[in-house]
Amino acid sequence: MKKILITGALGQIGSELTTFLRKRYGDKKVIASDIKPKLEGTIGQEGPFEHIDCLNAPEIYSAVKKYKIDTVFHLAAILSASGEKNPQLAWKVNINGLYNVLEIAREYQCAVFTPSSIAAFGPSTPKDSTPQETIQRPTTIYGLTKVTGELLCDYYYFKYKVDTRGVRFPGIISYLTLPGGGTTDYAVEIFYQALKYKKYTCFLDKNTSLDMMYIPDALKAAVNLMEADSSKLKHRNAYNITAESFTPAELAQEIKKYIPDFEMKYDIDPMRQAIADSWPNQLDDRAAREDWGWSPDYNLKAMTKDMIEKLKIKLRIA
Ligand code: NAD
Ligand code: SER
Repeated sequence: MKKILITGALGQIGSELTTFLRKRYGDKKVIASDIKPKLEGTIGQEGPFEHIDCLNAPEIYSAVKKYKIDTVFHLAAILSASGEKNPQLAWKVNINGLYNVLEIAREYQCAVFTPSSIAAFGPSTPKDSTPQETIQRPTTIYGLTKVTGELLCDYYYFKYKVDTRGVRFPGIISYLTLPGGGTTDYAVEIFYQALKYKKYTCFLDKNTSLDMMYIPDALKAAVNLMEADSSKLKHRNAYNITAESFTPAELAQEIKKYIPDFEMKYDIDPMRQAIADSWPNQLDDRAAREDWGWSPDYNLKAMTKDMIEKLKIKLRIA
């Protein structure tokens, strides 16, 4: 990885991945891009930024040529809840955008990291210890695009030798940039509301178990997979990874250790509850552990402690 392009770099994961990669490879080696304009004072100051709509292939071509890109972290996407509100847009961005990136990668021999998701599974998938290879019949448009994306990336590897790699991310918890329209967003919102108002109304049922991961582990996973020995990768697109599975009630309980008068209420959103109910409770990530040494650093306890410390600083709460 000598010259890296990130698409969707202003999103929840991209905003942190940009800084992480710049620290590792150098500011000028990592080109951030997004369809949104960059905001001064946030990312993009310490390195190059390009406006790229991933549906506009010439915009990607021109950045790949201009900066002699050899690796793309393709993060531009529409997430699960936003996808159900506009399935046509989700299909276009998630599939046509990926196709554009893969075609350019084929021509310019770039490696490509594309995240899949727990959403690539559906109600007929085994819910507990969900295997690396199992039934994938998702019922959301987002999930459909994730399965299609996994297969398309495999195809480009086998047919054209494009070095495609990916993980199935669980819900990501972070403090820098708010999540962008997913079903697991409650696990970020709860921290802001708990610190600001000592209460939160959760849109998922208290017993909904989902895989979750703190952002430092997600960044580590993306980079470790891209730096892994190619010959050891049996799955490529995409590896199950998880850090911990918990319910809203369990997260609220952990937050209460720091904010004892925190109150959690529930007002279930049927659309997001149905999405969450269609996803696994907990993935089996042994393939990632065996093939490229995946191992998370943060469990529920460590993540909650760090989130509260970091958000207190961000929100200037004593
Ligand atoms: P996000 O919604 O926070 O960010 C996505 C970014 O893509 C946004 O900044 C948006 O402006 C940009 N974008 C949208 N349409 C675009 C287009 N046409 N061209 C260029 N950019 C466009 O999403 P995220 O949470 O950062 O997710 C990044 C990737 O990780 C996605 O593929 C997502 O499916 C995957 N993922 C995320 C999570 C999670 O919990 N955050 C979990 C599993 C998988
Ligand atoms: N966090 C994502 C979502 O809820 C999972 O891919 O859409």
